[in-house]
Amino acid sequence: MLNPSRIDALPHSPRHPRIVAPGSDCALFLAQSVRSLPVTASLFPSSRFLAAALLRQIDFSSAFVIVELGIGTGAVTRQILRRLGPRTALYGVDLNPHFVTHVRHRIRDSRFFPILGRAECLTSLLRERGIRRVDAIVSSLGLTSMAPDLRSKILRQAAEHLGPDGLLTQYQYLHAGSSRLLSSLGIRPFAEKEFLGRYFRQVSSERVLWNVPPATVYTCRL
Ligand SMILES: C[S@@+](CC[C@H](N)C(=O)[O-])C[C@H]1O[C@@H](n2cnc3c(N)ncnc32)[C@H](O)[C@@H]1O
Repeated sequence: MLNPSRIDALPHSPRHPRIVAPGSDCALFLAQSVRSLPVTASLFPSSRFLAAALLRQIDFSSAFVIVELGIGTGAVTRQILRRLGPRTALYGVDLNPHFVTHVRHRIRDSRFFPILGRAECLTSLLRERGIRRVDAIVSSLGLTSMAPDLRSKILRQAAEHLGPDGLLTQYQYLHAGSSRLLSSLGIRPFAEKEFLGRYFRQVSSERVLWNVPPATVYTCRL
């Protein structure tokens, strides 16, 4: 069934993506990571293998609205757009203006709406755009290095906006098991799967080795 509040949010004249080759993605990503590694949470953009694992369980044929949290230089964004239907909208949120400006110039696609904003303000960002329900949330946020109340605020809002068949995907590099490495980085061990389980009834995981560094992808359903 079409929900009018969601149709209003869709772009009016979808066309195929015009994605400009990602010339300096890595240089920008590295520069921003050097400035603030805890926020950027990685030294390199995600590989297409990691992106594929994040997107594998999303039903792109029935999705109307997809939200990406933490777009960075658009590595995952491009892979979402490759799979997206012509009438589906992708809203990409990032707090770093350098990244948002970069993807605005690099990814020209009428289905894609980059948003300069904070994931913890998801409800108001969506409300401003007339959106209540979303079908999938793809998160690359570095939850491990976030303050506990901040990551709780983000996950609570994300779960509230998903429909009953919706799902959230999230990845993590550093596990609670790697506690020696975490403490050398000044980060407290964080059991991401258990944390996600507070908000979602079903949390499955998949290890992705073809990424620097290797990561675990969590797929969460209500
Ligand atoms: C690990 S990077 C992922 C970038 C990209 N999606 C990828 O996989 O290559 C995490 C991204 O989340 C953004 N970020 C961190 N905290 C955020 C927050 N509270 N709200 C929105 N974006 C945030 C960072 O600026 C960074 O671009």
